[in-house]
Amino acid sequence: MRPLIVYSSRTGNTRRVARAMAESLGADCLSVDHVTEQHLAQRRLIGLGSGIYWARTDDKILELARKIPSNCQTFLFITSGLRFTTMVNYYKNLLSKTLRKKDVRQVKVWHCPGFDKYPMFKWMGISKSRPDQRDLAEARRFALKMGKQSSPHPA
Ligand SMILES: Cc1cc2nc3c(=O)[nH]c(=O)nc-3n(C[C@H](O)[C@H](O)[C@H](O)COP(=O)(O)O)c2cc1C
Repeated sequence: MRPLIVYSSRTGNTRRVARAMAESLGADCLSVDHVTEQHLAQRRLIGLGSGIYWARTDDKILELARKIPSNCQTFLFITSGLRFTTMVNYYKNLLSKTLRKKDVRQVKVWHCPGFDKYPMFKWMGISKSRPDQRDLAEARRFALKMGKQSSPHPA
């Protein structure tokens, strides 16, 4: 079965990344609001992505992460306004910790900055114009790598 990419995106940044990844991977791409457990069944590879909201990934993505079948390989991607290494590592850990508790293989996490459009902060231009074309190209490369690594017979 085709890989699956599920995203939570309130202002569109993570959705753009998810679509770029899905395109290069030949994956199905769904918003977390439209995913059921049936969509998860029998997938060899699932990518989960979320924006960061008030220092957390979306709870819906965390909930879904707990339902990933254990024999499925998984990768994660995150977009956030802040891009300091400490913050990014903290955000990355939130999701990957949830998955590491399960018997899920290959939890790699990818991050890129995303323009913070929250009305109170928009004027500050935090990570303005991100993700840009370079970010999307990197997202495609990352997804392809995940696809190759999850393949039973890597090229
Ligand atoms: C309600 C809200 C809260 C946010 N809180 C944070 C935050 O705590 N830390 C951060 O780095 N970015 C924060 N951001 C910025 C987003 O993480 C960033 O713009 C991300 O790319 C949004 O993804 P999306 O467009 O897919 O929703 C926030 C954005 C919104 C809209």
